Amino acid sequence: MTTFPAGFLWGAATSAYQIEGSPLADGAGPSNWHRFSHTPGRILNGDTGDVACDHYRRWAEDVDLMSRLGLNAYRFSLAWSRILPDGRRVNPAGIDFYSRLVDRLLERGIVPAVTLHHWDMPASLEDNGAWLDRDVVNRFGDFADVAFEALADRVPMWMTINEPWVIMDAGYLYGVHPPGLRGRREAAIASHHLLLAHAEAVRRYRGNWHEQIGLVVNLEPKDPATDRPEDHEAARHAHAYNNLYHLDAALLGRYPDELAVVFGADWPSFDPAEIQSIKEPIDFVGVNYYTRKVVRHDPEAVLGYSPVEVPGAWTMATGWEVHPPSLLRTLLEVRERYGDIPLYITENGSAFQDPDTAPREPLEDPLRVRCLRDHLLQVRMAIERGVDLRGYFAWSLLDNFEWSNGYSLRFGLVHVDYATQKRTMKASGVCYADVIRTGGTCLATPGADAR
Ligand code: FCB
Repeated sequence: MTTFPAGFLWGAATSAYQIEGSPLADGAGPSNWHRFSHTPGRILNGDTGDVACDHYRRWAEDVDLMSRLGLNAYRFSLAWSRILPDGRRVNPAGIDFYSRLVDRLLERGIVPAVTLHHWDMPASLEDNGAWLDRDVVNRFGDFADVAFEALADRVPMWMTINEPWVIMDAGYLYGVHPPGLRGRREAAIASHHLLLAHAEAVRRYRGNWHEQIGLVVNLEPKDPATDRPEDHEAARHAHAYNNLYHLDAALLGRYPDELAVVFGADWPSFDPAEIQSIKEPIDFVGVNYYTRKVVRHDPEAVLGYSPVEVPGAWTMATGWEVHPPSLLRTLLEVRERYGDIPLYITENGSAFQDPDTAPREPLEDPLRVRCLRDHLLQVRMAIERGVDLRGYFAWSLLDNFEWSNGYSLRFGLVHVDYATQKRTMKASGVCYADVIRTGGTCLATPGADAR
């Protein structure tokens, strides 16, 4: 039986605004997400990240949890507005927070894997147009320089931007994330600047540092709702828009042809040399995988297609179909299109209903346990098929602030009681710890309770 390769990273992932709380502490400036969550009507139940998991104050306890899980890696993001409160001036206290965290992780034998941008940016940069402003590329480059200077001597794994597709789609096309815009042209321009910023950060890293830097994308295979040619075309378009858009730019230096059709007259005429400059060599691709989508042709929809529900499908609390085989498929597709670039699963996980208060440890979450095991089996199959997969990061270490859904969705391996901030290990966390401890051999008996 194939086991996981030596040196495989077993991690969990979080992001700054989703867990930290204390958004304005120690000289931090307001972020776009701070402002958005304080705008009435934007977030379910009026939730904000003001307290979140209080990780900004409980970080040491949270590193203890990582040790209990046996993690050898931890993926987290930097709050840009702690480090550069107004987007320009450096706030040393903001850097110190992450520096202490990195030191503690290293003491515990946990590799720090840092995302520069996981969606929160200084509000003052949003005032200048956020990702529509060309100058944001330089601002991001300067932020990256400060972060590398402070941490790259100890952090061996960097990710520039988390899911540029979601930033664009949710923030600039559907208006459900900041800056709350709804325009195809805006979406295309924002994506272009995100990609230029990614490449800029990679260039700045290469100048001085020599470990790993990569991009994190969310990939979702697309299937046609019927055999009709227009539904096949819809699936092709959806695939290009969701899955090829950012990787084609970063790895091949071009945009897929389908985008001009999907965006129609709103597709800008970008300078080909500038598109080519996005292809800055990177060390790995981080793949976030949650689901697949079945789509149909829909001339009324903003991009010409829309998702359909799959009858009888198993869905998680987000409404996303649980479809583990599509994880293997997406990894094989990446290899086929882009060659043998090292890959990490930088996020994978599931939200199911858990109680607000956990009566005892472990909190039983059988659906999440099953989901985790089923996906890890696909990960192992990918390795058996020769995919150069170097690590897996579960989303998420903790239940946390799930963006516009506030605290209503729980993705954690560890339960958070938001009234008391008490952490309680879930059965899925125990299962994951077992997988890590046994190098995956406990996955051999399908369905067996890993405890
Ligand atoms: C991903 C995000 C992450 C979390 C999960 C559920 O798109 O990167 O922050 O919200 O979805």
